[in-house]
Amino acid sequence: MEPATRAPDTLGFSKGAALAEWFEEWFDEDYALLYAHRDAEEARVAVGRALRVAPELAEGPVLDLACGTGRHLEILRRANPLAFGMDLSRFLLGMAPGGLRPWLVRADMRQLPVKEGVLRGICLWFTPFGYFSDAENRALMLRLGALLEPKGVLVMDYLNADLVARTLVPEDTVERGGVRAKSRRSLEGERLVKRMVLTRLDTGEVRDVMESVRLYHPTGLQEMAVRAGLRLRRVMGTYSGEAFTEDSPRWIGIFEKAW
Ligand SMILES: C[S@@+](CC[C@H](N)C(=O)[O-])C[C@H]1O[C@@H](n2cnc3c(N)ncnc32)[C@H](O)[C@@H]1O
Repeated sequence: MEPATRAPDTLGFSKGAALAEWFEEWFDEDYALLYAHRDAEEARVAVGRALRVAPELAEGPVLDLACGTGRHLEILRRANPLAFGMDLSRFLLGMAPGGLRPWLVRADMRQLPVKEGVLRGICLWFTPFGYFSDAENRALMLRLGALLEPKGVLVMDYLNADLVARTLVPEDTVERGGVRAKSRRSLEGERLVKRMVLTRLDTGEVRDVMESVRLYHPTGLQEMAVRAGLRLRRVMGTYSGEAFTEDSPRWIGIFEKAW
């Protein structure tokens, strides 16, 4: 099989002739169609609650990292006109409402083009963490800590790893937005791997995509965050702010920079 090639991107970093990583391929139109139910209303509830726990998010430069179509950013910018977003997916950034465009940057979070110590807050909504190797994930957490100004806040909206492992559905098929997704899920090492066969119901076009997310237990995430100079302020198990329990759908950690 020929390796996939990528053109150098607009920020001037290029991976050259390498096979694309799963997260470079999956977050496109099919993702947007299948996850359309992750919508503005969910974002409104989540951002509203985060602002109550971390009012700092309404002040100064705040980065919505891996912002996708900007559904959270749009809400946050009503409270904070300095909030901005960053994502790797040209397609999802292109779906953002026109008014957000000046506040969006395309970049790979492994090479964040932001100066250290300048951000009042960073939000990672709906599990954009754990995509890389352990070393790269740790390096990203350290970098997030370094980008924050003293007393800055980090919102880490991550899955409930134990619940995911305990309730894993090995196979299912869903149809949404004109796409059928037949998914097979497995735990491989410490990662949740989902392999999907996607069929466009109008054209019959078929493609394979995958997700591979490292399942970090909350204590592992917290240890990583502490090493990045962050201290846990609050944990929530839902977007509306309920306490985290072993059955919570999310693990949402709100951290503050310790110095
Ligand atoms: C599960 S989606 C969440 C999107 C958005 N936060 C939301 O809640 O709708 C994960 C996002 O991470 C982005 N992403 C994946 N790998 C990335 C990378 N290396 N650098 C920057 N963004 C990345 C994807 O393009 C996608 O928008």
